[in-house]
Amino acid sequence: MSLKINKIVNGPIPDSFLSNESKRLESLKFDGQSLEVLDQLLLPHEFNYIPIRNVSDAFAVIKSMQVRGAPLIAVVGSLGLLLELQNSSEINSEDIRKKIEYLISSRPTAVDLRNSLNGLLPILDSQEDSDEMKLIKCRKYLLEVYSSEKLQNRILVWNAYQELLHSFPNKEKLTVMTICNTGSLATVSWGTALGVIRALHSENRLELAFVLETRPYNQGIRLTATELLHGGVPFKLITDSMAAWAMKNHQVDCVLTGADNVARNGDTANKIGTYMLAVLCKHHNINFYPVVPFTTINKNIETGNEIRIEERPAGEMLQVNGVPVGNLQCPVWNPAFDVTPAHLITKILTDFGNWTPEQLKAQIPK
Ligand code: MRU
Repeated sequence: MSLKINKIVNGPIPDSFLSNESKRLESLKFDGQSLEVLDQLLLPHEFNYIPIRNVSDAFAVIKSMQVRGAPLIAVVGSLGLLLELQNSSEINSEDIRKKIEYLISSRPTAVDLRNSLNGLLPILDSQEDSDEMKLIKCRKYLLEVYSSEKLQNRILVWNAYQELLHSFPNKEKLTVMTICNTGSLATVSWGTALGVIRALHSENRLELAFVLETRPYNQGIRLTATELLHGGVPFKLITDSMAAWAMKNHQVDCVLTGADNVARNGDTANKIGTYMLAVLCKHHNINFYPVVPFTTINKNIETGNEIRIEERPAGEMLQVNGVPVGNLQCPVWNPAFDVTPAHLITKILTDFGNWTPEQLKAQIPK
């Protein structure tokens, strides 16, 4: 899918909208020549940046989950390849194709990395361009993956924020619920669902965010809570098993989630536990919104049945930070994602517009 700059569908974004960068934690530092990524396995206790010089460094931090979150994975994979190409004087198209496949194999469910890197294939396939020109175009494209994520994210958050204002015209402040981490640490910008929560807060429209701890990898307690504390956003942390009771006892207006892979029919893969929230929303008559950059939409699959769900090692469930919480001999099933069927989704909020799953299908180019 193209990385063309998008028209803003909900009017001009005010300059003040999400402009206070000091409230944002930095998932990476990139100056055009060198890249460092925040080691998310050490959060919230340590902030340590790891240098990335090439494709194998990028692969390693993605695979180990030191870097995670679909949009961030796409940017780090792309910049790892860019740095490698900056040090080459000639291009070997076959070699780049292999590196693309290698990077994509690091995390199988999140589609953003695949969508971003596959954008290089038409350049590599070109019959007209010289090898030198291909190299220039590949570098330019990979840099755009980074810059366009930043730009499109602001549009995404603005679109989603406007949708919430229209959907709840009589509510001055909203109470929302979210799962996993979808903020600055999962992107190179404000975030997706958490970006919207942040926007609600900075526009004085947020009552409270309920944050699920997000077992087994604890992205909610480790990352989202860290971001919200840093930004002074009002929230309450709950365990995943408290979600239904929170909905029953508090006026939750909507659930906002991220996404890792969205099929043409709107079925949406996201962190394990998201499907449970969508079912609970149906029961409690609460709106359910995935907040999704267009790079997370998978035009190649019709339904969620085609999404490969990553299974993580047993140790990630049986231990926390290396400390066993159960007998390490326990047989374990540890899927990292689930798929929310389209019929449970109120609207999918994107940087190109906000659509019901039926409307989404009409928008996706074949
Ligand atoms: O396994 P992770 O931590 O990479 O999973 C992250 C999520 O599921 C996020 O919710 C998703 O990538 C959306 S990120 C904006």
